Amino acid sequence: MVIALNVLLKNWVKKGIRDEALMRISIFGLGYVGAVTGACLASHGHSVIGVDINPQKVEDFSAGRPSIIEPGMDELLTVGKDKGLLKGSMDCCQAVKESDVSIVCVGTPSSASGALDLSYVEQVSKELAEAIEKKGSKHYLILRSTMLPGSTESFAKKYFEDLLQSGLVEIFYYPEFLREGTAVKDFEKPALVVVGTIDGLPPSPEMEPIFGLQVEVVRWCTAEFIKYGCNAFHALKIAFANEIGRLGKELGLDALSVMRILCRDTKLNISSAYLRPGNPFGGSCLPKDVRALTDCARRNGVSMPVIENLIHSNQQHLSLMLKLVESSGCREVVILGLSFKSNTDDLRESPMVEVAQLLLGRGYQVRIYDPLLNLSALLGSNKRLIDIRMPHLASLLKETLSEAVGERGMIIVSQACVPLEELKELVKDEHQILDVNGWTELQVLPVPYHGFCWELG
Ligand SMILES: NC(=O)c1ccc[n+]([C@@H]2O[C@H](COP(=O)([O-])OP(=O)(O)OC[C@H]3O[C@@H](n4cnc5c(N)ncnc54)[C@H](O)[C@@H]3O)[C@@H](O)[C@H]2O)c1
Repeated sequence: MVIALNVLLKNWVKKGIRDEALMRISIFGLGYVGAVTGACLASHGHSVIGVDINPQKVEDFSAGRPSIIEPGMDELLTVGKDKGLLKGSMDCCQAVKESDVSIVCVGTPSSASGALDLSYVEQVSKELAEAIEKKGSKHYLILRSTMLPGSTESFAKKYFEDLLQSGLVEIFYYPEFLREGTAVKDFEKPALVVVGTIDGLPPSPEMEPIFGLQVEVVRWCTAEFIKYGCNAFHALKIAFANEIGRLGKELGLDALSVMRILCRDTKLNISSAYLRPGNPFGGSCLPKDVRALTDCARRNGVSMPVIENLIHSNQQHLSLMLKLVESSGCREVVILGLSFKSNTDDLRESPMVEVAQLLLGRGYQVRIYDPLLNLSALLGSNKRLIDIRMPHLASLLKETLSEAVGERGMIIVSQACVPLEELKELVKDEHQILDVNGWTELQVLPVPYHGFCWELG
């Protein structure tokens, strides 16, 4: 069970880590996120100092008046005010001095060019570093503003390096997932709790009651990236549903029902299926059906840029594989797994067939091994495809793994289709591994490992 910050803070109090009944928290930025966080924490009995550069927001917070429209805020702030737990301040040093934990919720808007404007986080980091140094005792700093990967690290280096080294500060990146309109409910029951630490190791034991045991603990930059992954995914889902809606409308179909029923499939649709970086998509259905749907939209004058660009995106993904082979310096390539996915001999629109063709065209020596592929048994469209597109496949396809691996070359592993131990016996110094589908155990092989679209930490 994921434990919300307020519950965790309560636990901290319960476990007697602090004697007082209240946690002392300062919140920097009293916008949508900061005001809700402050009001919720105060309603749970913690004392909260709200800091903002906008005097009106500070005054409202002190007075227990919401400066934003958000269901439940009036009541929460009234409770906090009546209990004397809310205080507003424009003085960073005072807020830090009177708190043990600071939570940064300042804005990170888009600049005119679309780049992320981190100037507010920059400013508040600078002020916080000075204030913590002045305070001279341990302070926990929780950054919640949405920031691109690497931002926490760069602020830590720029402003907090000495404080980190002396142990005066511990920094967490703790992305916020609440939604406006249901922010209070989301605070109480978050969809996801992720904590980023400097090294991806669990926070120090005394922080365990704050973050709980079952949060996702990762490095700062991964936590930052997760937040962007989530928001991009949400935006993608909305745009996708709207494109299905636009086409449905044009075709006189009820897209509300289409999407409702689509969502009922929790095995393949609303699930983790197909949500892992790896092979480009291929096979006899996805490329063909995406093309057909796109063509249908065009003929009906419907613009569907998200769906239309799926094939382009897939092609870009395949190009990356070629780039990685090129940059390895290898002139020989071994392809392990030619069909479009494991446990099938279907070669139709298999990305690896295209990769093999392109590499051959660029003068690479290619050897292929696929334990499920028996050329003499291929029939129908599968056989036609080979006859037309890869008539020389027979000469590239090796009978044994040993023959395919040979003495050197980049081994592109598109599927876990061979025993790892056997591969380990066969690889030599002049081999490299390109893991295309997340078979990360390949790292045990005594040769350079390249993740296709991931860097393993
Ligand atoms: N709004 C959301 O639904 C939501 C959800 C999740 C994450 N986030 C992220 O949380 C962050 C805050 O979002 P928001 O919507 O609350 O922003 P906001 O613009 O509503 O509020 C930011 C506040 O920070 C204050 N501020 C700026 N500089 C300051 C400083 N030096 N000291 C103190 N206060 C300062 C501003 O005056 C403002 O009141 C952003 O990074 C945003 O992307 C927002």
